[in-house]
Amino acid sequence: MNFDVVVIGAGAAGMMCAVEAGKRGRSVLVVDHAAAAGEKIRISGGGRCNFTNTRTSPSQFISSNPRFASSALRRYRPADFIAWIDRHGIAHHEKTLGQRFCDGSAKEVIAMLLGEMAQAGVVLRLRTSVTAIEREDQCFALTLSDGQNVRAMSVVVATGGKSIPKMGATGYGYEVARQFGLGLVDTRPGLVPLTFEPRTLEPLKALAGVSVEAVVGCGKTRFPEAMLFTHRGLSGPAILQISSFWREGGEIEVAMASGVDVLAFLKAARTDRARQSPLTVLSDLLPRRLAQAVLEPMSLAGNMADQPNRVLEAINAAVNAWTLKPVGSEGYRTAEVTLGGVDTDELDPRTMEAREVPGLYFIGEVVDVTGWLGGYNFQWAWSSGWCAGQAV
Ligand code: FDA
Repeated sequence: MNFDVVVIGAGAAGMMCAVEAGKRGRSVLVVDHAAAAGEKIRISGGGRCNFTNTRTSPSQFISSNPRFASSALRRYRPADFIAWIDRHGIAHHEKTLGQRFCDGSAKEVIAMLLGEMAQAGVVLRLRTSVTAIEREDQCFALTLSDGQNVRAMSVVVATGGKSIPKMGATGYGYEVARQFGLGLVDTRPGLVPLTFEPRTLEPLKALAGVSVEAVVGCGKTRFPEAMLFTHRGLSGPAILQISSFWREGGEIEVAMASGVDVLAFLKAARTDRARQSPLTVLSDLLPRRLAQAVLEPMSLAGNMADQPNRVLEAINAAVNAWTLKPVGSEGYRTAEVTLGGVDTDELDPRTMEAREVPGLYFIGEVVDVTGWLGGYNFQWAWSSGWCAGQAV
């Protein structure tokens, strides 16, 4: 079998690339070892797919080369993807902070991509992987898991990262990169709940299910978003965001009533609400269960009027300068993304082609470009996939 292009991986990036290449008249084969295409799209955004973010700029991406993503993000913008799904009549809405979600199901996005692939003459082979790739003169010779041999002028690696192995993530793309001598940036789970040692975790367990608007920081990076207490530790958007910046041995800082001068608030309450309990007063700032958990270790006696400055200062610190040392994260089992990957120095930022291996492309999550939470990762998949689709 001969094709102009073989795309390995029928995820967001691979399907986008296949559509674009197909529309340009290229013969395209997409192979994926999974039983269905776009499985991560299907489960994304709680089944509604946060497919882009209208506030996308290179600053929401983590990479060894922060400028690498700029070109692709400029060439194929959130507005381009939104116009595409509008043409398909897929209803969508903004949830918060520029995040665009389907009104209905993420399956509509998959159906759109599959429909456009079929229209562009793309051949899709599911339950099929690549067992060998060799460079042969001007083309690539690939062996598929069913024993078939395929020749192609271009190979596009769109196999994603290592996150959620249960859904078919393999890290195969990194093997291909290594085989062809491309450098890799160390990979680690990103957008993932953080875990804590039993001493820290035990008192938090009683709070499982409590959510609070917080500012969570690590070093100079801060995210003001919701934080969720769970049986295993901390989660919610603010924690997922900061997990991509946290490193082993480091601390995170949490402000649970950010923007409020808690000490001034407590001092005022000591005068104005002297007969109320500290719990009643603090419950104005925090969910009651959380206020209880903050105050419990302090074993306070009496009402607000009885609390000396030192106690008010301790409450203030526990609420707005809570410092914790995670022991780790839940890892690739639940991580939404993989940080690191194919070194961007190896790739042309306009086309995603390997500089030293003409015809070999890497797109999407397999590349060392990782977005924040909020639709940025799909935008990177669409943008990088689109760019490769114009070049293959
Ligand atoms: P993707 O992982 O989508 O596709 C890779 C494909 O390659 C898969 O189909 C896989 O089966 C295939 N493959 C792997 N190894 C192979 C091999 N050896 N041979 C053949 N095929 C192989 N992002 C966002 O922007 N908004 C959101 O709402 C969410 N939500 C979300 C929820 C959850 C639970 C997760 C895990 C992730 C998200 N994400 C997200 C992240 C987003 O899903 C992710 O960044 C993109 O799917 C990456 O697209 P790719 O096409 O690069 O990889």
